[in-house]
Amino acid sequence: MIIERATADDLEVLLAFRQEAASWLTALGSDQWQRPYPADRLLATIEAGVVYMVRDGSVTAATITLTPDAEDGLWTEQELREESRFVNKLTVARTHAGQDLGGRLLDWAGDRAYRSGAHWLRLDAWTTNKPLQEYYLRHGFEYVRTVTEGGAVNGGPRVSGWLGQRPTAPSGDHNFKDLTSPPAAPPSRHPSLEERA
Ligand SMILES: CC(C)(COP(=O)(O)OP(=O)(O)OC[C@H]1O[C@@H](n2cnc3c(N)ncnc32)[C@H](O)[C@@H]1OP(=O)(O)O)[C@@H](O)C(=O)NCCC(=O)NCCS
Repeated sequence: MIIERATADDLEVLLAFRQEAASWLTALGSDQWQRPYPADRLLATIEAGVVYMVRDGSVTAATITLTPDAEDGLWTEQELREESRFVNKLTVARTHAGQDLGGRLLDWAGDRAYRSGAHWLRLDAWTTNKPLQEYYLRHGFEYVRTVTEGGAVNGGPRVSGWLGQRPTAPSGDHNFKDLTSPPAAPPSRHPSLEERA
């Protein structure tokens, strides 16, 4: 399987992919992802270069968004001072479920975040979806807190406010053929005037 950056050509596939996941979640009795994701917002993230596709031949096996931008209103100022990368929209095709592909992608994301100098891999999960939260706990995330207010619709209840984080770490075990460009290295530390004196 290869991993590469999504392009605008992937927009329709990604929208259908999310729809498929939403149907599966509904069948499980969850209210997660019932609203279609706005295509313009998805396209903006694709164009920002933060959406990644896992392809198994011509089939989309999974997707992950990995971004340095935090969702508004979830993390404290103190937390935002710590260098982090945020995982969004992790989704695995049902055809590829049960193989821990999501776990491998989280390892890939943690490795990439580590190489870009971030200390934390962070995410917000659907507040009412306990099995999903347990999935992240099983994958080494610690529960931070649940944010209940400040949702996207008129600042109403927040639907995805279960916050988790785990330290980033190098990992070569994800076994994807990685066609992405390497992450930008952390900024080199310029010696301060004092140190140079
Ligand atoms: C979360 C996800 C990416 C994990 O993919 P994966 O590593 O291939 O793992 P699986 O899908 O095989 O799930 C592992 C277990 O967690 C359960 N699980 C995972 N996500 C779940 C969810 N959102 N709701 C309920 N159960 C879930 C699965 O039913 C499965 O349970 P089982 O082992 O008893 O069968 C995948 O389940 C998925 O695409 N979920 C829907 C989209 C989603 O909620 N993404 C997270 C956004 S924050």
